[in-house]
Formats: sequence, C-alpha cells, structure tokens
Amino acid sequence: MAERRAFVTGHPIAHSRSPKIHGHWLAKYGIDGSYQAIDVRPEDLASFLGSLSGSGLRGGNVTIPHKETAFALVDSRDEAAETIGAVNMLWLEDGRLWGSNSDWIGFAGNLDQYAPGWAANGPAVVLGAGGASRAVIHALKQRGVKDIRIVNRTLPRAKELAGRFGAGVSAHGADAVGGLLADAGLLVNTTSLGMHGDATLAADPGGLPDHAIVTDIVYVPLETPLLAAAKARGLKTVDGLGMLLHQAVPGFQRWFGRKPEVTPELRRMIVADIEGH
Ligand code: ATR
Repeated sequence: MAERRAFVTGHPIAHSRSPKIHGHWLAKYGIDGSYQAIDVRPEDLASFLGSLSGSGLRGGNVTIPHKETAFALVDSRDEAAETIGAVNMLWLEDGRLWGSNSDWIGFAGNLDQYAPGWAANGPAVVLGAGGASRAVIHALKQRGVKDIRIVNRTLPRAKELAGRFGAGVSAHGADAVGGLLADAGLLVNTTSLGMHGDATLAADPGGLPDHAIVTDIVYVPLETPLLAAAKARGLKTVDGLGMLLHQAVPGFQRWFGRKPEVTPELRRMIVADIEGH
C-alpha cells in the first residue's frame, strides 16, 4: 500500500508538537506513513484545502488561527464540529472534505486518565468563553455534568455560549466566581491567563471544597499559577498536556488505521520538548 500521509496546518506552525506525537506513534506501530507541518497563511487556507483531493494527503489537523475558517470551508461536518463551531481535524471521504473536532475528546480523555470519576464530582466552573471553552463545555455535557457555570471577563460572550448549550449551563461575570466555587467539584481554566508564567490568578482555588479537581488547558508552563495554587491548597490537579496528547488519537486512528495509546513514554517525550531538553 502507498505511504499514508497526513499533516497539521496553522500559522505559524513551526512550534507545533503534533508532528512529534504522530511521528512517535508511526514509529512505534511500524506504519508506513508520514505527518508533516504545513504553514498556510489565512488568505491561502481555502486554496490549500481545495487542493487536498489529489494531493495524496489523507487529511490532517488544523490549529490556530484556522479552526473557525476550516469549519466554514469543509464540505461536511460531524456533530462535534457543529456543536463546537470549530474544526481541528480533517479527512477526505468519497471525494468530500470532512471536518470534526477532537479537542473535547482530548479534554475528557485527559481527565479520564488522571482523575477517573471526574464527571460525577459536582458542578463545574469553566473560566473563559472562547473557542477552547466551547470544546470543554461540549465534553462536560457529553459526560453528563448537570451544572456548568461559565465565568468570563466579558459577560455577553458567556451568555451567548450558555444559550448555545442550553439547559444546565449558566453564565456569570468574573466578580461572581467566589460564590460559584464554594460547592464546585471541577474548576477548568480555558483562558490564556497563566501562560508564559503570568502570575495573575483568575480564580482563587482556596474557595473550592476539598474534593474539587482543578485543571488547566494551558500546558506551557506545565504547572500554571492556578495549578500551583490548587496543589498548595491540597487539591487534585490535572495539567493540560494530556488534552493535547488525547486530542491526537482520533486523527491518527482515521488516517493511519490504528488507535494509538497515550503512554507515559509519549508524555515524557513531549515534556522534555516543552522544557527544552
Ligand atoms: P481560545 O480559542 O483559546 O479560547 P479566544 O476565543 O480568544 O481563545 O478566548 C480567550 C478567552 O480568554 C476569553 O474567554 C477571554 O475573555 P474575554 O471574552 O473577556 O475576552 C479570556 N481572556 C483572555 N485574556 C484575558 C484576561 N487578561 N483576563 C481575563 N480573561 C481573559
């Protein structure tokens, strides 16, 4: 069989860790395939996607800033893509370009691995109301979390999102966060606060009950200020790297025909990359 080929596109794309993740799995499973990073400028995305059939590429991942544009450009979308409103993986099928979103699978898979039973832990507080928040809320709904509280600096964005997801999802401004944490079982940060060692805390995990789990979708640094504060408070924490690793699983399975495992070995490799070893 001819070599199977897939890609990740974004702009910029040089620092994407996806080629390392997929390359690791291709070598581990002895698959005749390749996975390459392709930098595509926003104004060139439509022609790039239009040229896929006939290129020999089976599909690929889409990352910042192309997720919403790709959503609009694909021929068909699955339910997850429709609900989240963004596409992070593509494949060709019967001459049509399909788009899906596996970020929510990454989020749920990460918590399944490191905090089993998380979905039954009580109300969830989600910080942020952007694209990443939509994937997280979809995961929470899929796993049956009944009380989801979106907290955002800009309240109308939180309201728009709550309306989109319907029953069980409420919207709040940042000043309400203290009261919302008192009986929460899960706190999720989806904002870029905490990136680049920014010491600003959007929410104080001190106000959470003892059984609460705290997770951050930011994974550079691995221990964000929020996770450090939660750990100091004695709470269970899950860092965001597992979301990146687990979101890659459905794409690899689709393009290369085998469901890959997220192992400690893979995690160690990407941690070393993040820490610059
Ligand atoms: P993403 O796709 O990564 O979620 P986004 O759609 O730009 O990115 O959303 C960024 C989120 O981080 C938003 O919820 C944003 O809050 P606003 O809707 O009020 O803009 C939040 N965010 C970013 N910088 C922030 C800051 N300095 N303080 C509070 N919230 C911030």
